Amino acid sequence: MKYILVCGGAGYIGSHCVEELLKKKYNVVVFDNLVYGHREFVEDIPFFEGDLNDIDSIRNCFKKYNIESVMHFSAFAYVGESVIDPQKYYFNNVVNTLNLLKVMNEFNVKEFIFSSTCATYGNPQFIPMNEKHGQNPVNPYGKTKFFVENILKDYEKSYGIKHIIFRYFNAAGASLTKNIGEWHNPETHLIPLVLDAASGKRKNITIFGDDYNTADGTCIRDYIHVIDIAHAHILGLEYLKKTGDSDFFNIGSEKGFSVQEIISKCEEITGNKIERIIGQRREGDPDILIADSSKIKKVLKWKPRFSDIHTVIESAWKWQSKLNLLIKN
Ligand code: UFG
Repeated sequence: MKYILVCGGAGYIGSHCVEELLKKKYNVVVFDNLVYGHREFVEDIPFFEGDLNDIDSIRNCFKKYNIESVMHFSAFAYVGESVIDPQKYYFNNVVNTLNLLKVMNEFNVKEFIFSSTCATYGNPQFIPMNEKHGQNPVNPYGKTKFFVENILKDYEKSYGIKHIIFRYFNAAGASLTKNIGEWHNPETHLIPLVLDAASGKRKNITIFGDDYNTADGTCIRDYIHVIDIAHAHILGLEYLKKTGDSDFFNIGSEKGFSVQEIISKCEEITGNKIERIIGQRREGDPDILIADSSKIKKVLKWKPRFSDIHTVIESAWKWQSKLNLLIKN
């Protein structure tokens, strides 16, 4: 039996990709160290608790399961933390990825799907951003992803590992069917924090700056539903299997919402008033980030099905109620 190995499959985006893979009847093994992942997110499929910093644990997993392709979601992704402690990011996101690729070489596994980020572009030179936008990451997190993207080009040339790279914009929302969703500790992302303010778990939400060059002065982002991201991964995997061509794609909804607009939408969907506090700018936040996703639409025939902002927030809200129960019990 051949397996798709999902590294980080107990995490937020990884677990949604597992859900989509299972719908497509792939055999899946989840590899996760459970530092940020949740064992509860992996149901009824093989789970291998291991760490990518321990190359023997990766080898043991490859020995145990006949792996045909790898999806790699395991990474640290707190931009602010990456500035304070870059070493943590370079080791976890780059060195550990090299371990994984090394074992792939040892076991002759040639298909790799990699989670990258719009943070590899750095400060936007034009909006919407397509894949031709120069890559000039401005923080260590973005650099780790940029470095791995480049490593993958060399590994393809020398070792024949084919890859698909996805550059996510702002992942948001939650599964409509399974008990999985965003569950970070600490949580730093806007939508879950705003919803916590709506449910009374937090008193208010601080808006990081209202003097940006946008209509209401708050930052604009492109929120893409995690199910649409997961679906792109299936299409990417199938494309790689069919054509053997490596490629890289943005995944974004191509629509932008300001922080103020997101809070208003959350008020509308939850029916609760949310107290807004205007705070300082957060370092490194560009005014606007919006994807041009025409390449993935054209090449992979992907289209976002759940990324209207209402569905994104409503699904996140439903998930948060479940999560609050889960945490209480
Ligand atoms: N924001 C607030 N208050 C908060 C939290 C966020 O005003 O309490 C604002 C941020 O300043 C930003 C927007 O809400 O303008 C979205 O912030 P998030 O933290 O939700 O998401 P980011 O845009 O910072 O981060 C995302 C991914 C990163 C990726 C980055 C690329 O989570 O992994 O996009 O820019 F690197």
